[in-house]
Amino acid sequence: MTRGTVLVTGGAGYIGSHAVLALQQVGFEVVILDNLVYGHADLVKSALKVELVQGDTNDRALLDSLFTSRSFDAVMHFAAYAYVGESVSDPAKYYRNNVVGTLTLLEAMVAAGIQSFVFSSTCATYGVPQQVPIPEEHPQSPINPYGMSKLMVEQMLNDFDHAYGLRSVRFRYFNAAGAEPQGRLGEDHQPETHLIPLVLQTALGHRDSISVFGTDYETPDGTCIRDYIHVTDLAQAHVQGLEYLLRGGKTEVFNLGNGQGYSVREVIDAAQAVTGREIKVVEAERRPGDPAMLVGSSEKARRTLGWQPQYPELAVILQHAWQWHLQRHSVNEH
Ligand SMILES: NC(=O)c1ccc[n+]([C@@H]2O[C@H](COP(=O)([O-])OP(=O)(O)OC[C@H]3O[C@@H](n4cnc5c(N)ncnc54)[C@H](O)[C@@H]3O)[C@@H](O)[C@H]2O)c1
Repeated sequence: MTRGTVLVTGGAGYIGSHAVLALQQVGFEVVILDNLVYGHADLVKSALKVELVQGDTNDRALLDSLFTSRSFDAVMHFAAYAYVGESVSDPAKYYRNNVVGTLTLLEAMVAAGIQSFVFSSTCATYGVPQQVPIPEEHPQSPINPYGMSKLMVEQMLNDFDHAYGLRSVRFRYFNAAGAEPQGRLGEDHQPETHLIPLVLQTALGHRDSISVFGTDYETPDGTCIRDYIHVTDLAQAHVQGLEYLLRGGKTEVFNLGNGQGYSVREVIDAAQAVTGREIKVVEAERRPGDPAMLVGSSEKARRTLGWQPQYPELAVILQHAWQWHLQRHSVNEH
């Protein structure tokens, strides 16, 4: 028996696809809406076997027909553009997709009477941290249009709850990493900007070296510290956030991180140990806007949702990501 039907936007992407799998595993029916600008239809077909509607959250007519064609209990919204640098050079693209696209989706939900919404927000809404680990009450002061686009949606969600009774759970993720433990799904961003896949691509010989931006930060080894959370743990939190809303839970916000930071240097050293390969490092200047340390407190998600990360160890995150990279690499080459 199905526990309900969920529309997952961006479900052909990295985190969304892992959430779809987690939802299916506990008995939810899922429909994916993805414009496939960055998503992977081949993975949806091979690993998820759900209906994939190729379309855009900015397409109101499509949303209306989707919402009248069947009954949805909730929407999980991963669809967004997420390249911080590009958001600085082309902010219009980010406000149109991440803000206007989400507004269109929310309006269609209100019209269809769908009242539960799980949203991918980000630690980028905090800006430069005043304290670490960062709690949810930390002031939000994004330093780029990507973070600002997510903060705008968070604010819209407060207003939509107040006016239309649309309840939401917003998850502010730290760095999603790793891959589905059985190797069915993983991270395949093009272009790739995230540290762990870049390091593993270097181990595979697809890149000559990995650049380390800044070695003079006030951290034990001088490189930046980030909070890496296993994508399967992230997906599990989404299921628990959805269940919370379907039980009638009120609008809430939760950080999702490991609570533990690792430096760029530690990630590279651990990747060398996991892959057994040498990874060439090039030291480079600091990048503007990179705080020394970004680590989140996820105590609230643990307390309120009962969420418990299963894969907090960096070595395990890297092992799963490596397994996925080896396999995806061989699939793509044959
Ligand atoms: N990856 C991270 O570490 C991280 C951290 C914080 C927040 N987030 C947020 O999590 C979400 C998922 O990130 P990801 O890493 O899986 O990205 P991703 O690019 O792999 O997935 C996003 C998916 O959304 C689709 N998409 C984008 N705009 C769309 C639109 N208008 N209509 C329909 N589909 C659209 C893309 O084709 C892609 O498949 C994003 O909202 C991102 O901002 C990610």
